[in-house]
Amino acid sequence: MVAPLRVGLAGLGNVGAAVIRLIETEQLSIVARCGRPIEVVAVSARSRDKDRGVSLKKFRWHDDPLGLARDPDIDVFVELMGGEGDPAKSAIEAALAAKKSVVTANKALLARHGVALAMLAEKNGVAVNFEAAIAGAIPVVKTLREGLAGNSFARVYGILNGTCNYILTRMEQDDLSFADCLKDAQRLGYAEADPTFDIEGHDTAQKLSILASLAFGTRVDPDAVYVEGISSIAPADLEAADELGYRVKLLGVAVKTPQGIEQRVHPTMVPKDSAIAQVMGVTNAVTIDVDGFSPITLVGPGAGGAATASAVVADIVDIARGHRLPVFGRPAAQLTEAGRAPMQRHEGGYYIRLLAVDKPGTAATIATRLAEQQISLESIVQRHRGGAPSGGSDAKSPAGPVPVILITYATTEDAVRRALDAVKADKVISGEPQLIRIEKNR
Ligand code: HSE
Repeated sequence: MVAPLRVGLAGLGNVGAAVIRLIETEQLSIVARCGRPIEVVAVSARSRDKDRGVSLKKFRWHDDPLGLARDPDIDVFVELMGGEGDPAKSAIEAALAAKKSVVTANKALLARHGVALAMLAEKNGVAVNFEAAIAGAIPVVKTLREGLAGNSFARVYGILNGTCNYILTRMEQDDLSFADCLKDAQRLGYAEADPTFDIEGHDTAQKLSILASLAFGTRVDPDAVYVEGISSIAPADLEAADELGYRVKLLGVAVKTPQGIEQRVHPTMVPKDSAIAQVMGVTNAVTIDVDGFSPITLVGPGAGGAATASAVVADIVDIARGHRLPVFGRPAAQLTEAGRAPMQRHEGGYYIRLLAVDKPGTAATIATRLAEQQISLESIVQRHRGGAPSGGSDAKSPAGPVPVILITYATTEDAVRRALDAVKADKVISGEPQLIRIEKNR
């Protein structure tokens, strides 16, 4: 029998405990798959005494994760502490410098320091595996880095944040407000106590920047991602989307354009017949548009102890098998600058919801302003007075504004913004227009 692969595990929350359990319960099939046992031999966490439902007696204890990373009697350092800075960063750097491969679930750290860590790993001839950092149990890193290593990509997009998808699903299915659904997500433990990072799209942006690097060879850079969250979405938008054949999802999209790789996170209308539109609740999904054949969509749990542990253990198994790949699928020095998406040049269809002043000539003015910008309409819906679903309290007044919903054919963001500025200046609408970008199937 080949010597066991000795694992040092830093961070013993839900995921850490689930990793220990999975390695124990699956030991026989793990040996069969990689030809050697995998043994957790040493651990580190904030508290030694906390009840985690797993015994720590067999493991060497390190108060300091850096001490664990440098422990000469471990082969692999598994980082499950989280956070983009120390101690996770220093501990991973120490492990790599000591020529130990690293497995991490830490998207924040990879988004901020991924390229530098990749260079350090290459210099020391070791691996950094991070399947658990994006979309939990879904093997999307493996799919992009290995399964599709012979292909070129046109677009990669996905639902990468379970909290946002849960909120949008509940709003749509139960006709609830954003605020009520957010409270529910917090009660169920999906959203963080401070949920801003999830609902304003930053969690999705970090994950997207890593997927874009794997697909397009860009340097991981969350600052290159255009980000809009879901807090402005109203039940009226979801109802209108439904009537017009769409659903609203918070998507992270990385797409090849003539100007370069566009990376963006925003609420998105997707056709109801697309695979991504079927994904409900906290579930995650990623669609990959490959040149030459129809898209691949991977769907599954994006968070939780068991799902995340599954990805972590598979990454450890790869190391036990002796696999070592360039961290982002190609040598770090070959990764190219991402460059921030110039959203004014973004091309696509748009959903626009306006509160139009109810007087003769309003519709004609709106149509004229759109035509001036060469914007062609796919559909236009005007609610009758008092028939507004939930477009605003004054929408029910006979003398007040009425909701008008427009779907455009492909145009540029610049053209849409110019047309809406002109409509506002004409004083034929009340309040700010709602704008949601449309992402079509290929
Ligand atoms: N906050 C994340 C989500 C957890 O809601 O999907 C996984 O990164």
